[in-house]
Amino acid sequence: MRLDIITIFPEMFSAVLDQSIIKRAQEKGKVQIFKHNLRDYSLDKHRKVDDRPFGGGPGMLLQVEPIFRAVQAIKRKIRGKSKVVLLSPQGKKFNQIQAKRLSQEKNLILICGHYEGVDERVREHLVDEEISIGDYVLTGGELAAMVLVDCIVRLIPGVLGDKNSLNFESFEGNLLEYPQYSRPAKFRSWKVPPVLLTGAHDKIKAWRQLQALRQTRSKRPDLLKKI
Ligand SMILES: C[S@@+](CC[C@H](N)C(=O)[O-])C[C@H]1O[C@@H](n2cnc3c(N)ncnc32)[C@H](O)[C@@H]1O
Repeated sequence: MRLDIITIFPEMFSAVLDQSIIKRAQEKGKVQIFKHNLRDYSLDKHRKVDDRPFGGGPGMLLQVEPIFRAVQAIKRKIRGKSKVVLLSPQGKKFNQIQAKRLSQEKNLILICGHYEGVDERVREHLVDEEISIGDYVLTGGELAAMVLVDCIVRLIPGVLGDKNSLNFESFEGNLLEYPQYSRPAKFRSWKVPPVLLTGAHDKIKAWRQLQALRQTRSKRPDLLKKI
């Protein structure tokens, strides 16, 4: 998979892309991630990419022209099909189902807005999908893009060491994951549920299924309605 991120703050991404599983995924060649500084696509001699909204109002908007030029340049490099996603609080809410769907794309271009957002013509003419990471307003699309990248990349086959970790985690089958424990079996007076120490796989499986239902019922009863 190839991911291209258009942003005015490419440095922000190192915190996520150059660490841990996402870093290893790139090293293993499972994903290629390119950051593009929007200012490189500005025709302005001061590399300006924002301007005031027509009709007045607070703040600045990212202009359509540099974004258009960035998307075109990336598409020329890719040559195949690509999906262009605008990070936006007005978009469709991101969830695990969206993450799985997007992880099957070959090429994804993510556009990060900033300031008051982007010129509406970006949505109208350049973007295939608008995605929001929740009903709140961030300063910019960078954190939202990082959330998408993190969720999507770990779903690419071969990225996680044990592919079973994907089968048994929260939101699979609309259930939350069962509780998990590690050593020591007793810490202070806090004991691990005895069934987990029996080695009886069938019993452990049944216990985990029941616990997953319990966790979901107590923390996210809305999910149970979807089962
Ligand atoms: C301050 S916000 C602009 C909000 C815009 N004025 C509005 O009211 O819809 C600047 C940028 O942050 C990003 N952003 C903010 N909240 C977001 C969210 N919940 N999900 C995804 N992106 C978000 C978008 O790229 C947006 O263009």
